[in-house]
Amino acid sequence: MEKFIYFDNAATTWPKPESVYRFMDEFYRNTGVNPGRSGFDMAIEAGNLIESLRKRLTRFFGGDEDAPERLSFGYNATDAMNTVLQGLIGSGDHIISTNLEHNAVIRPINHLVRDHGAEATFIPFNQQGFIEPDTIRSAIKPTTKVVVVNHCSNVIGTIQPIAQIGKICKEHGVTFVLDSSQTAGVIPINMKEMNVDVLVFTGHKALMGSTGIGGLYVRKHVDIKSTRSGGTGVNSIDPFQPEQYPWKLEIGTPNLVGMAALWAGQDWIESKGLQCIFQHEKNLVQRMINGFKKIKGVTVYCADSLENHLSTVLINVEGIDASNVGIKLDIDHDIAVRTGLHCAPLVHKQLGTVKLHGGIRFSIGAFNTEEEVDTAINAIAEIAADQQIKPGARA
Ligand code: ALA
Repeated sequence: MEKFIYFDNAATTWPKPESVYRFMDEFYRNTGVNPGRSGFDMAIEAGNLIESLRKRLTRFFGGDEDAPERLSFGYNATDAMNTVLQGLIGSGDHIISTNLEHNAVIRPINHLVRDHGAEATFIPFNQQGFIEPDTIRSAIKPTTKVVVVNHCSNVIGTIQPIAQIGKICKEHGVTFVLDSSQTAGVIPINMKEMNVDVLVFTGHKALMGSTGIGGLYVRKHVDIKSTRSGGTGVNSIDPFQPEQYPWKLEIGTPNLVGMAALWAGQDWIESKGLQCIFQHEKNLVQRMINGFKKIKGVTVYCADSLENHLSTVLINVEGIDASNVGIKLDIDHDIAVRTGLHCAPLVHKQLGTVKLHGGIRFSIGAFNTEEEVDTAINAIAEIAADQQIKPGARA
């Protein structure tokens, strides 16, 4: 059996850097007490890591450096997105989003529309998989309150023109929310320069943290209503949720070990350099796309130009269901991918791939190699060739 090859980094990056595993273990073992609640040394040390991490991530995302308290932690990007959308949108408000979104965005929006009287417009992407900024401009109306865009599609890997969309939102006084789940830790993000008002992130992808940690940064000129309440460790006498950030949006005992992982992830990213991580993944994705495009019977989606394309590739093999290709890759080649709709049904609806049960997604990470990419190309070539020999034999 060949060595196991992991191409499911858009779902979660794996493995994590050794230094992340080590720091999680060491920090949790030595400092794993409830932070921000008590005055003994370990609790203070645990609290210090959280406050230092707020500052560090605020800088990393180009937030307001004098307001690190506006960085709130939650479980993941979905959790943060619910906090943002439910805290910003009310009856009669219009939301603009796109067909590139994940269900982390689509479902909270649909619930606001169905259950709370909001209105939503989902903008299609163009043939190459990009949102044209002018289509956002045209969709804005007097009731538009929020625009939410996925920085990079988790299905087709196209990186969206965020700075241009941010400029349009600013001109129209509309709050711009960026979903950075697929890009944070690979592509530089500067909220101020890109006119991003609220950024949502997850810790377990390219930020190299663990699952169960994510959050949001809310710029100083934006306010988000708290929709949940609970313990904060401060102002315990107050019967209601404090109005001050981060407690306004952060409830209960935090995921300390997840935060330790994010801290070590930041160390690792700094030691490599974002540009170097990005270039490595870009080289591999170009090699993979070029390889797949040469195989008869393989369709590669939205990859005409490799400009603004991140490390995720969607393909289908003629005559064989995506899920069966996934099984063959797993069983015969020891390659892990994700098949199906990838929690992003609008992408597949627009591509016309729902009837094919979605597609086969390869997502490259920082630890993949050229050799692994070549193995994947050869595996797909073998599966496609097999299919050509027995045409019509839909697996
Ligand atoms: N959002 C993750 C994915 O795209 C889970 O697979």
